[in-house]
Amino acid sequence: MELLDGKKISNDIKDEIAAEVAAMKQRGERAPHLAAVLVGNDGASLTYVGAKVRSCERVGFDSTLVKYDTDVTEAELLAKIDELNNDNAIDGFIVQLPLPKHIDEQKVIMAIDPSKDVDGFHPTNFGKMALDMETFLPATPFGVMELLERYNIETSGKHCVVIGRSHIVGRPMSILMGRKGNPGDATVTLTHSRTQNLEAICKQADIVISALGVPNFVKAEMVKEGAVVVDVGIHRIADDSEKGYYITGDVDFEAVSKKASYITPVPGGVGAMTIAMLLKNTLIAGQNRK
Ligand code: GUN
Repeated sequence: MELLDGKKISNDIKDEIAAEVAAMKQRGERAPHLAAVLVGNDGASLTYVGAKVRSCERVGFDSTLVKYDTDVTEAELLAKIDELNNDNAIDGFIVQLPLPKHIDEQKVIMAIDPSKDVDGFHPTNFGKMALDMETFLPATPFGVMELLERYNIETSGKHCVVIGRSHIVGRPMSILMGRKGNPGDATVTLTHSRTQNLEAICKQADIVISALGVPNFVKAEMVKEGAVVVDVGIHRIADDSEKGYYITGDVDFEAVSKKASYITPVPGGVGAMTIAMLLKNTLIAGQNRK
């Protein structure tokens, strides 16, 4: 078994981006500028957005964090998006999800200028992705593709089982793995909470990508000997430690790692890649605006 070391690869990517930014600055160009909009006090969202902003510093990007209380109105949020769309100093921005229930997430995503949508969530960008056109790919599936590519994992003709059909991960993941190219060219089965015989389907997979959001869902009995296992889940489980929790994924790592040929750890796997790919999209957004 070999670990798919997202922490290491994401650091390599950040180094590559930092070198690119240094060269841009040397040419007298300004650094790419990412803005992140965060609503409320969800612990996981605070952690993710904090990490995104810190990563901007690490590669030499400018960053802006826009914070709102949970009771911000949809109109206020849409007005801020309009402002960011029209701000020439901002190359790309994200609105961290989930949003509070009184705000229509789709309306918010639709309001983002697709040329600044570095999350790749706008229907224009999602459609372009599905049609093999150049666009911003959603950062988490993009990160999985990059990991597979950098570890030279053969995907052509392989059976890839994706678990979970979320708009952010499972659905785009299934599209990317089925697209022409490397990585890609896989035979894809998209499974979800209504799938019958999920265990048996999963057991047929050469590549399992789990993004269901259920801790320890993927057990050793569900995985073929030698399969590649990618765990997109990130769960905080309360414990007696000083932090008060530990982090685990969708996969029973202890048992599954004994059967897998390659496996992502949690933490240090796909999560680290998400931020690196967001930075990559922001770099591209900055270059596109020149
Ligand atoms: N919530 C969970 N993952 C993501 C992500 O990649 N982008 C945004 N904006 N929100 C998220």
